[in-house]
Amino acid sequence: MVKDDFVVTPWDVSGDIDYNKIIKKFGVSPMVDLPDVFMKNLLFRRKKVFAHRDFGQIVQAHKSGKPFVMMTGLMPSGKFHIGHMILAQQMIFYQSLGAKIYIAVADVEAYNSRGLSLEDGRKFAIEEYILNYIALGLKPENCEIYFQSDRSADSKKANAYYRLQNLLARHATFNEFKAVYGEITPGKMVSSLMQASDMLHAQLPEFEGRLPVVVPVGIDQDPHLRLARDLSQRIKAYKFVQLSSTYHLFVPGLSGGKMSSSDSTSYIALTDDAKSVKKKVNKYAFSGGQPTIEEHRRLGGNPDVDVSYQWLTFLEDDDKRLKQIYDDYKSGKLLSGELKAILIDKLNGFLAEHQKKREESRKIVDRFVC
Ligand code: TRP
Repeated sequence: MVKDDFVVTPWDVSGDIDYNKIIKKFGVSPMVDLPDVFMKNLLFRRKKVFAHRDFGQIVQAHKSGKPFVMMTGLMPSGKFHIGHMILAQQMIFYQSLGAKIYIAVADVEAYNSRGLSLEDGRKFAIEEYILNYIALGLKPENCEIYFQSDRSADSKKANAYYRLQNLLARHATFNEFKAVYGEITPGKMVSSLMQASDMLHAQLPEFEGRLPVVVPVGIDQDPHLRLARDLSQRIKAYKFVQLSSTYHLFVPGLSGGKMSSSDSTSYIALTDDAKSVKKKVNKYAFSGGQPTIEEHRRLGGNPDVDVSYQWLTFLEDDDKRLKQIYDDYKSGKLLSGELKAILIDKLNGFLAEHQKKREESRKIVDRFVC
């Protein structure tokens, strides 16, 4: 077997990811064109949400005005950056469609797999994630954010969530864990059973009852979904609607490759100031331009590998303007420095507003977490 030159698992994402190969290998379906409400959203229109499992149920539920849940989780470590924003934007979008929002803070997973204390997990979750979610537009109504270590003050609810996690264990085999995750440890096993309960528990009678649930995630989380989907149909004590899921692309790191919280030159954090944004983009953003201005004018740049352009495909909502930038860069009319300046303006314009809103969010953060 030819080895791929990339790795995508819940514990490791590296190399040059070939998304078409992943679609085949994981057995997910490519995202198709959707009804207008979805296509107005950049992430769906540009196929940044590029694949799914059983998403038809969600489109159908929305179309017929039936309730559904959006459930996802966050790993509370590191800085909240442009890559994390993609998921937050989806939460807010589903909330605007009328979905009930469930968000798990994976503090138990962070404790078991990253050595993070529960106190630090809580601090990171609030400072880095939840304040940014609120600033981006998440509303407290119809939204439950909870910690894996502390599901609910209502014991009936808490019991139901932890009970489900424990009962699911009988329906998984060791070999299945190994096949899904490669290397396996007790901590990882617990994490994935807990994540299965995260994804399924909204359907318990103590919560919303049986209903469609969509789980938007990065494709690295798909092994968790495969397992949860399989277990959910095996456990006869409950009747779950099969989980739906969607998968979004990773935003590339500034210098190409992966955007990683452990390498501050690879990302722009939503708390970065204007000066560092300018410096980081100018210094680190991988350019698809030619080595000299003369050659660039003659041969044109390559927007398909240029990270500044790639980032604009996530950030510039105006399709016409984006196409103009693409064409001008490709023809050589727009220079690399000028393209970077467009990105810097876009980022700094957004961040100035956002950072104000983030400070404001402190006033209402208590309405999201208890
Ligand atoms: N494992 C996820 C991560 O590393 C976090 C997570 C926990 C999650 N529970 C979840 C994601 C439920 C989606 C659904 O980011």
